Amino acid sequence: MKVGKLNTKHKPATLAVHAGKQAPPDSRPISTPIYQTANFFLDEDVQAAIQDGKRGEHYTYTRYGNPTQAAAAGKIAALEGAEAGLVFASGMAAITSVLLAYLKPGDHLAAARDLYGGTSGFLQRLESMGVAVTLFDTEDLESARRALRPDTRMVYFETLTNPLVRVADTEALARLAHEAGALAVVDNTFPTPINHRPLEWGVDLVIHSGSKYLNGHSDVICGAVAGPADKVQPVWKALLQFGGCMDPTAAWHLERGLKTLALRMERHNTNGLELASWLETHPAVDQVFYPFLASNPRLDLARRYLAGGSGMIGLRVKGGDTAAMDMLNRLELFSVATSLGGVESLVSMPLLTSHALFSAEERARLGILPGTLRLSVGIEDAGDLRRDLEAALNSINR
Ligand SMILES: Cc1ncc(COP(=O)(O)O)c(C=O)c1O
Repeated sequence: MKVGKLNTKHKPATLAVHAGKQAPPDSRPISTPIYQTANFFLDEDVQAAIQDGKRGEHYTYTRYGNPTQAAAAGKIAALEGAEAGLVFASGMAAITSVLLAYLKPGDHLAAARDLYGGTSGFLQRLESMGVAVTLFDTEDLESARRALRPDTRMVYFETLTNPLVRVADTEALARLAHEAGALAVVDNTFPTPINHRPLEWGVDLVIHSGSKYLNGHSDVICGAVAGPADKVQPVWKALLQFGGCMDPTAAWHLERGLKTLALRMERHNTNGLELASWLETHPAVDQVFYPFLASNPRLDLARRYLAGGSGMIGLRVKGGDTAAMDMLNRLELFSVATSLGGVESLVSMPLLTSHALFSAEERARLGILPGTLRLSVGIEDAGDLRRDLEAALNSINR
């Protein structure tokens, strides 16, 4: 029913539902409104378009698309240098939609060994559904080459890994994928497009957990995919079928957060580098993992691919897990929490969070030895953060 067709003969029950609705505004708001609606009027032109098989060109139902979602997705696509973008209810909804859009029973997937735990768990489910999976080491191109098979359909990796922030050789891995006739798909959550733009290095599709740096305020769960329109299209179809669409209010928060992404990343990058460099000098610290440290054996790759190292720091303290747990609980400005990428500094132990379901041997294989902590350095004052870390490190039992 069109708003203009209401009249005085309509009863209160009808008016209560339909009156007061705004016709499409001829004003031009500076910020994107929240289109908190499940449905859109199927006007005659839309009906005709649906009959022509062009439903995707109009807003009809929010699982299929919504202007607030489009505003957030458009920003992410622009930042990644992509033709098209999609937003999702979570990073996992984005990841599972991409994998299920492109992989079917009988296909083969070559995936990096050090992936976010939720993604690794989903790869096991894929195997139970008949997709063969071979893991490779992110830092070892030969192991990636060995993982490839004639039926490899996709090569999947994270551009900066969790929790030891290893730098992937994006261009070389994308080339290997293409030589095998496979798609190169990456999770670019840790660097964000401010620090790394994988499509420029030959990658086909980029995925994000937007719950982290993209939204940046630890108050929304969301995900995104960006890439060329013809490669994003099958993922949109998967989104429709699996239903992981983003709520418009969440999309509005994401879009607002994105406006300050570049500013926030600038601070995350400088705080991350300053604290990682300082941590290396502390006697209670065994090893620090950060892309731009001189001690990083892959510093050349960091310089090649990354505009900044982000706020993510891997850290191993002396004294093993007991000392690490002790430190965790002594920190005051760093809150103990599982996620990352927000304006506030967080600390976690992979043993208790992302890698809780891995055995000690599996963790060791990934380099996550006893005493490992992960810092997500926020945008607070670096001196205050350093003093917090120093007080905790000085008082732990090693
Ligand atoms: C690198 C990475 N990818 C994907 C995810 C999953 O994202 P979400 O929690 O938004 O579903 C996470 C979550 O921690 C992550 O760290």
